[in-house]
Amino acid sequence: QLRIAVFASGQGSNFQALADAAVQVKLGGSIELLVCDKPDAPVVERARRAGIDAWVFTPKDYASREAYEAEILAELQRRGVGLIVLAGYMRILTPVLVEAYAGRMINIHPSLLPAFPGMNAIRQALEHGVKVSGVTIHFVDGGLDSGPIIAQRTLDISEGETEAMLADRIHAAENVLYPWAVRAIAEGRVSLNGRRVSLDAAVDFGEY
Ligand code: GAR
Repeated sequence: QLRIAVFASGQGSNFQALADAAVQVKLGGSIELLVCDKPDAPVVERARRAGIDAWVFTPKDYASREAYEAEILAELQRRGVGLIVLAGYMRILTPVLVEAYAGRMINIHPSLLPAFPGMNAIRQALEHGVKVSGVTIHFVDGGLDSGPIIAQRTLDISEGETEAMLADRIHAAENVLYPWAVRAIAEGRVSLNGRRVSLDAAVDFGEY
């Protein structure tokens, strides 16, 4: 079965949704490791409670991004990790990891990409005044939130919606969509052809 590493920096609601799906045998794989760049992040405690090993580090202890990524890569290879799932991991990755896991690393982003990449995507969308926003899951390439798109969900923005309200609705959508997408990949139902991603016609996990 597919061995998965989740990378996260913050609250970890998506990490939790993935860990819960794994316990319910709905993920199609096992979460071998959490990688976290913030020792105080709530996601670290979530991993401890779920009994999932965590590789927690402080970037400034290293001479370069490549230096800590090389250590992470060695740990992932030692554990036979076949898929990296970025879940609110707020660091740009270097080619050390991006190339080693090309086609085997995915990210979730709180907007309809290619609109509003980067930080504070929810605020960017509201400040722009869009009427529809949503969630995107994509393969990771060398750019910022730029890789081939696997799945998207839209949310209509209501009159007077605040950033906190929209963030809550986006997180709820993400927490459903991300385990679904990981399962589709684990079951071999997702194929990547250049920039296009196709999903097996049989992909339909109604229970999510
Ligand atoms: C999620 O909304 C995710 O889409 C976003 O960080 C949040 C993490 O929430 N990621 C990005 O903005 C990446 N550019 P969580 O810690 O509760 O899973």
